[in-house]
Amino acid sequence: MTEEDHRAPAAVVFDALGLDYEQAFAGSAPHRESLRRLLELLPPGSRVLDVGSGTGRPTARTLTEAGHRVLGVDVSPVMVELAARQVPGAEFRLADIRETPLDPASFDAVCAYFSLLQMSRAEQTAVVAKLARAVRPGGLVALATVPLDVEDAEGVFMGQPVRVTSFTAEAFTRLVTGAGLAVLAREQAPFTPAHPEATPEPHLFLLARREAG
Ligand SMILES: C[S@@+](CC[C@H](N)C(=O)[O-])C[C@H]1O[C@@H](n2cnc3c(N)ncnc32)[C@H](O)[C@@H]1O
Repeated sequence: MTEEDHRAPAAVVFDALGLDYEQAFAGSAPHRESLRRLLELLPPGSRVLDVGSGTGRPTARTLTEAGHRVLGVDVSPVMVELAARQVPGAEFRLADIRETPLDPASFDAVCAYFSLLQMSRAEQTAVVAKLARAVRPGGLVALATVPLDVEDAEGVFMGQPVRVTSFTAEAFTRLVTGAGLAVLAREQAPFTPAHPEATPEPHLFLLARREAG
């Protein structure tokens, strides 16, 4: 990031990666499995929020093709432009989820796949709580993260300098249940992105339901 660059750090990284991100992660079987589980439980024509929608593939495209109404939100202008082009059946907005007000119980489901990692722990906790309130009681929340005990750790991701904050799998699961969500499915597996500068990373996928009442 240059000194003049005042965009959110995630926007700088993902503006630079664009379609390279999609190509590097396209082989993730647990991501496809998470979407399959979500589709199994979603009523027809559900309204779904995809937080950090990236290029729109696979998440928004899979859900849209299954007949659901998808709103994608992303802080990277490049990603929003790519997603709108690749998934014309969904709606995409340029916004930072930390600052985006969400009406309570306004979605049947919310997805946030790997989009929390450039936020502080307090921000991730607040965003997950906000997403939990944004789904109707009984609604679904699908989350994925890189479960590591790191705070503002400097690293290089697919050739881009990044700072990453996360939680252990146990602490992230506690954060999710603390937001009033009951975990229905949990899958953890290592994944190596298809990119010459990538290294294996742990992936954690959670599917949760907002408890009624
Ligand atoms: C690792 S990518 C994952 C993209 C997509 N969810 C997927 O799994 O293919 C993370 C995405 O989240 C977006 N993002 C990160 N922080 C965000 C924020 N505060 N608000 C909205 N989007 C954010 C990034 O711009 C990026 O497109």
